Amino acid sequence: MTNATLDLLHTRRSVKATDLVEPGPDASAVDAILRAATRVPDHGKLTPWHVQVLHKPGQARLGGFLAELFAKEIPDANDKQIAFERDRPQRAPLLLVVTSKPRIPHKIPEMEQLLSVGAVCTNILIAAHAQGYAGQWLTEWPAYRPEVRTFLGHAGEHDRIVGFLYLGTAREAPQERARPVLDDVVSEFR
Ligand SMILES: Cc1cc2nc3c(=O)[nH]c(=O)nc-3n(C[C@H](O)[C@H](O)[C@H](O)COP(=O)(O)O)c2cc1C
Repeated sequence: MTNATLDLLHTRRSVKATDLVEPGPDASAVDAILRAATRVPDHGKLTPWHVQVLHKPGQARLGGFLAELFAKEIPDANDKQIAFERDRPQRAPLLLVVTSKPRIPHKIPEMEQLLSVGAVCTNILIAAHAQGYAGQWLTEWPAYRPEVRTFLGHAGEHDRIVGFLYLGTAREAPQERARPVLDDVVSEFR
């Protein structure tokens, strides 16, 4: 029996951000991705997450900031390295930044709120794939720098960037990678 949703889940593959080219998701595709992203399991209905959409102007602004921060911290960085940092958020047609905004303290444990954010990121990848696009979920160093999250406007003490989701069209179909053998990771508890 064929099932379109299962086919999607069984065939999704990340494509390197540098191998994501135009066209990126158009406005209606982005809308569909965002609606899927925000329809995730969410214990307590806390919506402990936020998604930012960065088209080219936003990506350029973020790239400028990363280049500045990098140059400040590594004074002997050369022009090529600084240009690399400027280009980092501009590698793919579209960038979505997903930030965790947990309520702490709260009776819903922080871990459960974080898991909901992970589901947001996964749904973004699946919704992109469902519309013929591809993506890559990256963190890299900018996800862990308080300066970067502040620059993006996330001032909460517990706010964390959990993903830079790069989206676009795959330059070429990705090769499959080895997947876990089910028996290695699944068992029946009797
Ligand atoms: C939270 C999270 C952060 C990630 N960050 C990076 C990263 O910074 N660099 C990287 O090469 N892959 C990163 N990955 C892995 C890729 O997104 C991707 O899952 C991996 O290359 C396997 O490809 P697949 O999605 O086709 O299985 C991250 C994955 C997750 C879940």
